[in-house]
Amino acid sequence: MIEKNSIFLKALNKENLITPPIWYMRQAGRYMPEYRAIRKNFKNFLDMCKNPEVCCELAMQPIDAFNLDTAILFSDILTIPDAMGLGVKFLEGEGPVFDNPIKTSKDIINIAPFDPNSLSYVYEAVSNIRGSLPSNIPLIGFCGSPWTLAAYSIEGRSSKDFNLTKNFISNNEKETHLFLTKLTDACFLYLRKQIEAGANVIQIFDSWANLLSTDDYEKYSLSYISSLISALKSDAITSQIPIILFAREPKKELTTLIDSGADCLSLYWNETDTDLNIFRGKVALQGNLNPKILLESNNLIKQETFKILDKYKDYPGYIFNLGHGITPDISPDKIRYLTDLVRSR
Ligand code: CP3
Repeated sequence: MIEKNSIFLKALNKENLITPPIWYMRQAGRYMPEYRAIRKNFKNFLDMCKNPEVCCELAMQPIDAFNLDTAILFSDILTIPDAMGLGVKFLEGEGPVFDNPIKTSKDIINIAPFDPNSLSYVYEAVSNIRGSLPSNIPLIGFCGSPWTLAAYSIEGRSSKDFNLTKNFISNNEKETHLFLTKLTDACFLYLRKQIEAGANVIQIFDSWANLLSTDDYEKYSLSYISSLISALKSDAITSQIPIILFAREPKKELTTLIDSGADCLSLYWNETDTDLNIFRGKVALQGNLNPKILLESNNLIKQETFKILDKYKDYPGYIFNLGHGITPDISPDKIRYLTDLVRSR
């Protein structure tokens, strides 16, 4: 039974552990030479995600290299808009680019209904990874939040300020809500399929939470995340699966995220003055170390890591992680150093 032997699942269950479980956002990625050796065979990153054998190998790389306490599906959040016909490409050094972004309210009304079976390559990757992992190591499945997926789909690419998206939502409020509803339904069906294929935990990435004002965050993002979590918690297939919510710098009080129904909140690195008593017993917490620290000396890494470990020492259910993903400029040696450091204390 995976539940009995996994310290990651114990922490998600709000147990206080002497040594926290460890994993890293973007643990499989360009900072690893093993990753780059495979990546060079594919021009478009999404073509690599469509190959379940390759995804399995990539998800296993950080587990084999650093003996982490959970694996995460190798894929991307933009598989859903791609499956909805928006044509997502990742070109060298450019990030995601959409062939058919949402330009008008008509595009939302006419969007093809999401067929979860069109993402069978993802579920095959899940089942391959689950089959390759030892029984005490869970597998995280994931999706983007409806809002974050909508923002990319309207903007058509990455952007600093997403001004196109901000204008679109204020001029097309009704259709924006229709789009968010369609995306929420798609995320639910997609996550259920991942769970059926073997995912043991789900993480929802609201990476563009920071674009919205306090009121708009509730209206356009948190309410849809809450509906998604509530659908997962009410379905017989998915109800027992722990859910982690990562929201990057929302303008709303972090405590309001507890009401989303998530089992665990993944903290961004600048979330420093959280009063842990408000969260205790309600949610597990994850993350919080600034990934940039990993570009510094081992001494500084040690100092900052010990600060985090001291802060969460008595917290029931803390999962060690960074406040955002590992960037390509970080050396794998630093990941090894950090992992050993947390385990040796
Ligand atoms: O170990 C893992 O976490 C790998 C699985 C994974 C990827 N993307 C692989 C990836 C996960 C969980 C994601 C989530 C994801 N994708 C998010 C949410 C997390 C976050 O960072 O906030 C977002 C916003 C995306 C969208 C995305 N994917 C962008 C904007 C980019 C390009 C910029 C960048 O950060 O590289 C990607 C590409 C991507 N997704 C890469 C990887 C390993 C690098 C692609 C490459 O090798 O060219």
